[in-house]
Amino acid sequence: MRRPFIAGNWKMHLTRAEAIALAEAVAQKAENFPHVDIAVCPPFVYLEAVGRAIAGSRVALGAQNMYPESSGAFTGEISPPMLSDLGCRYVILGHSERRQWFGEKDEFINKKVHAAFKAGLRPIVCVGEQLAEREAGQTLQVIRRQFEGSLADLTAEQMQQTVIAYEPVWAIGTGKVATPHQAEEVHLELRKLIAQRYNTEISQQVVIQYGGSVKPDNAGELFSQPDIDGALVGGASLKADQFLAIIAGMKKGQPSGGR
Ligand code: 13P
Repeated sequence: MRRPFIAGNWKMHLTRAEAIALAEAVAQKAENFPHVDIAVCPPFVYLEAVGRAIAGSRVALGAQNMYPESSGAFTGEISPPMLSDLGCRYVILGHSERRQWFGEKDEFINKKVHAAFKAGLRPIVCVGEQLAEREAGQTLQVIRRQFEGSLADLTAEQMQQTVIAYEPVWAIGTGKVATPHQAEEVHLELRKLIAQRYNTEISQQVVIQYGGSVKPDNAGELFSQPDIDGALVGGASLKADQFLAIIAGMKKGQPSGGR
């Protein structure tokens, strides 16, 4: 059975003091949710301080990006072993903001996914269609292309360890959340793609998060869907009470999938 997983993507927000306070507040309450895996993904420069703030708690540390080489002359970049060294367990890869503003393509994201595994990190790989693509009826086609490209050549074991985050671009930071039905349709498609390439058993073990305007008042309904295993939360993860309320939306025994 897959375990629910809720992660906060803090993006380029907060001061160092605010980051530490937020991490401490989440860590303090995390014990109340033993059935949910929880992670926070602060900006690189706060990873060490946040790592200290959550040490010994149920909250894991994640980064928001990395470069796919272990070391070298890549001014301004951060390597996978550096993230492992700081205690990161997860790394978000291929976020739509990286795709949109930094020109990241599936092939490059795939390189990063392989580099993450080499450094012992679990990738959270983001996929999602833009509004025009949804309106043109191309959503599942886009998801298939991103799945094939960014998750190419993974062993079955690596696939099982990969977290996929379905984040429709039109729902990110807009307050426009996908309906549970819209999200479930894509999650189910992703599970079918995994089953086709590997097998049903593996497809049932992969954790698939939804991301895009997840808030305390819509989380419960999203989590009630059989193939939605948690969330990658942006804006609402910057406030401890909101992030914790979203986590509380995941009831014991969910996701109801794991068929
Ligand atoms: P919001 O929750 O702010 O819409 O952001 C979602 C997201 O991009 C998480 O990675």
